[in-house]
Amino acid sequence: MVKTAYDKESASSYDLKRFTTQSGQLIHEIEVSILTEALNKLDTKEASILEVGCGTGRLLIEVILAGYKANGLDPSLHMLTQSRKKLQSDLFQTKLVLGEAAHLPFKTNHYEFVYTIRVLNQTTSHLYALDTIIEMIRIAKPNGLILVEFMNHYRLGLDRRRVRLGPEQVVDRVNKKNIRLRPKEIFQIAKNNNSNVVWLRGAFFFGMTGLNIMPEFAIQLVSKVDQFFSKLFPGLCSRCYILLQKDAA
Ligand SMILES: C[S@@+](CC[C@H](N)C(=O)[O-])C[C@H]1O[C@@H](n2cnc3c(N)ncnc32)[C@H](O)[C@@H]1O
Repeated sequence: MVKTAYDKESASSYDLKRFTTQSGQLIHEIEVSILTEALNKLDTKEASILEVGCGTGRLLIEVILAGYKANGLDPSLHMLTQSRKKLQSDLFQTKLVLGEAAHLPFKTNHYEFVYTIRVLNQTTSHLYALDTIIEMIRIAKPNGLILVEFMNHYRLGLDRRRVRLGPEQVVDRVNKKNIRLRPKEIFQIAKNNNSNVVWLRGAFFFGMTGLNIMPEFAIQLVSKVDQFFSKLFPGLCSRCYILLQKDAA
C-alpha cells in the first residue's frame, strides 16, 4: 500500500472541497488550459494517453471530453472509484489501473503522452518524485510527450503551511510535507534519459493559497494579475509544468 494514496474520506471530498468554489473553478481552468496546450502538440486524437495519479478523474474527463482516449493510474482504490463514477459512459474505452508512480506497470515505449498533475509534491520523498519522472519517460514512446507538474523549489507565493486559514479551508493530511523540485533537476533528468525540454510554464505566481483566501469579488482581477506574472516569471511560480519529448528511436 502506498502511504500517500488518498483514503476514502479524502477521495469522497476531494472535488467538492477544492474545485467548487470560484477560486477552485479558476484553478481547475488554469490547470486544464496548460494541459490542453501540451495535448495540442499531439498530431492525432488517437494518441495513447496516461494520467499518473489520476485521482477522481477531474482532469481525465477533460481530456476525454476533448476527444482523446486516456487511461488513468492511481494507488488509491477510493480515488479510482470516484473516477469510475465520473467517467460513466466513457468508461468502456478508459482503463483505470491500480498502481504507483515510481513503478509504472507498463512496458517501455508504451504511451504517446504521459502526464502528472498535483502528485509529485505529495509523494514520500524527493527521490521518489524524481524516479517517477524517469518512469514516465521510460513508458513514453519515442517522440512521445511527458508533462510533469511540480511544486517549485523557487516559488515566491504564499505557502499553506505559513498561512493560518479559517476552519473551512482544507489542509490535506498527506500534504503537510510538500516535495519541491527545481526545474534544473528535471532538465538534467531529461538529458540523462534521452529527452528534450519542449517548454516550461508556470502557474499561481502568488500561490494557490493567495487565490483561495481572496474575497470573491477580487478573484478574477487577482487571477489576471497572477497569470500576467506567471507568464513573465514561470520559474518563480508556485507550480511549474515542464513538457518533455523523448528522442526518436
Ligand atoms: C491531489 S490528488 C491529484 C489527482 C489528480 N491528478 C488531480 O489533479 O485532480 C493526488 C493523487 O495522487 C495519488 N497518489 C498519491 N501517491 C501516489 C503515488 N505514489 N503514485 C501515484 N499516485 C499517487 C493520490 O491517491 C491522489 O489520487
